[in-house]
Amino acid sequence: MQISDSSSRILAGLLEARTGQQLTMSRRWRLETALSALLRERGISIVVWVMTVLVMGKEPSLSERVVEALLNNETYFFRDRSPFDVLQRHALPELARRRESSKRLRIWSAGCSAGQEVYSLAMLFAEQPDEWRGWTIDILGSDVSTSCIERARAGAYTQFEVQRGLAIGQMIKWFEESADGWRAVEALRKPIRFQVHNLLEPPPHPGAFDIVLCRNVLLYLSPEKKMLAFERIASAMAEDGWLMLGAGETVIGQTNKLGSDVNARGLYRLTGDGGRIEKRRNPDRRSAAGA
Ligand SMILES: C[S@@+](CC[C@H](N)C(=O)[O-])C[C@H]1O[C@@H](n2cnc3c(N)ncnc32)[C@H](O)[C@@H]1O
Repeated sequence: MQISDSSSRILAGLLEARTGQQLTMSRRWRLETALSALLRERGISIVVWVMTVLVMGKEPSLSERVVEALLNNETYFFRDRSPFDVLQRHALPELARRRESSKRLRIWSAGCSAGQEVYSLAMLFAEQPDEWRGWTIDILGSDVSTSCIERARAGAYTQFEVQRGLAIGQMIKWFEESADGWRAVEALRKPIRFQVHNLLEPPPHPGAFDIVLCRNVLLYLSPEKKMLAFERIASAMAEDGWLMLGAGETVIGQTNKLGSDVNARGLYRLTGDGGRIEKRRNPDRRSAAGA
């Protein structure tokens, strides 16, 4: 299947309008790979026909399927492990002290794909039952993709998926074998809520999240959309909350609302909170240089 330049542009425009994600020329190969299964399933062989449907807006569900097929949903449990360790060593003990009276934590994973990131978080807490006994840990996972959220809600994974990032002991403890793979146990699914949500829209209820994860979501947003996304995220954070981005992502040059937490590499905090963020002229330079 060969997709013409004009068709590529229309599809890329549709993707960007719905999600903010840009399909750069170097990623246009994704179009053919991503769409071939959908077109086969629908029995559509002529891309021009798809364009007609999309452009004329005759079948909105098809354009939604096309957008979903073009999104990059790559994820796995405890992705890039070290940020989870930093969270556990640094942010969680501090939050445990600060929220001692309410005994409630709110966590939001924005762009959670099929949910592995969210279940990884739930495992962090479930594996320390003594520390978190009596606490309410609300975890929200959101994604712009409806099919991702349906998968995340089911908490069901193939053998291949469940092995990516999980030790055998964790897999056996937190997942039960089913006919076609593995499903997260009820105890893990209980504190989690999932919802379809576009990061560029106003943040989800209830806000004031103590920890926000937005990892590997913003990479292909235009600078303007990235700034908007950071504004949305900042407005959703508790004053003393943390943001975790993906490896290689940074807030530097994207927003002045957030800055590095020098004590916790890979975590970011709201600026203007009276000195919790070290006042360096360029707080990210050291980590950007890999120091
Ligand atoms: C590469 S996956 C990353 C998943 C997970 N955060 C991780 O790091 O493993 C990016 C996810 O972001 C979602 N996404 C892209 N644009 C979005 C937007 N505007 N709002 C919410 N989710 C979005 C995609 O659907 C996809 O599931």
